[in-house]
Amino acid sequence: MTEKNINHTIVIYPGTFDPMTNGHLNIIQRASKMFDVVYVAIGANPEKNPTFTPEERKILITKICEPLKNVKVEIFHGLAVNFAKKLNAKGIVRGLRTEADFMYEMQMAMMNKSLNKDLETIFIPTMQELSHISSSLLKSVASLGGNISEYLPREINDALLKKLNS
Ligand code: COA
Repeated sequence: MTEKNINHTIVIYPGTFDPMTNGHLNIIQRASKMFDVVYVAIGANPEKNPTFTPEERKILITKICEPLKNVKVEIFHGLAVNFAKKLNAKGIVRGLRTEADFMYEMQMAMMNKSLNKDLETIFIPTMQELSHISSSLLKSVASLGGNISEYLPREINDALLKKLNS
């Protein structure tokens, strides 16, 4: 076994991803350069009413992340910390866009730390040109006929338009 195998660093990147935007994709690409394995973990946020089923999101994200060989996509239920533990992950990656994100993310990071002391949260700042977008904002603009294609991978833009027109 090589030293790289011994120190294999696995992280999870949990989120609702309804749908995954170029902002999320940028975080995944950057995390994939920093860690040996990145699991995109599709979770359920009880406060959200998703447009895509978890399975639809998994298919779309898997297709888009295919060129990133160390990125895997899974659906999880329950606590993110438990899913991380099951995968032997050392950290939870989250993107940070704004000051408002920071408050919410710090609260989650502290709760996750108290639930599992061995897990670290790693924040990756979002690219400035993508810091004003969110999945629900894009869905809302698209539902009113706005063009949001510059913010979404092509397959996701197509799938979203299909959903909105069905
Ligand atoms: N680019 C663009 N948008 C981004 C972004 C980025 N880099 N990073 C975050 N966002 C946006 C998303 O588009 C999303 O927008 P929306 O609210 O309009 O839909 C929002 O920020 C946050 O969504 P997302 O990153 O998908 O995560 P979330 O906050 O919905 O998901 C979970 C939170 C799933 C990670 C969290 O609820 C969780 O861990 N749940 C499992 C249960 C658990 O462990 N609970 C205890 C937590 S302490």
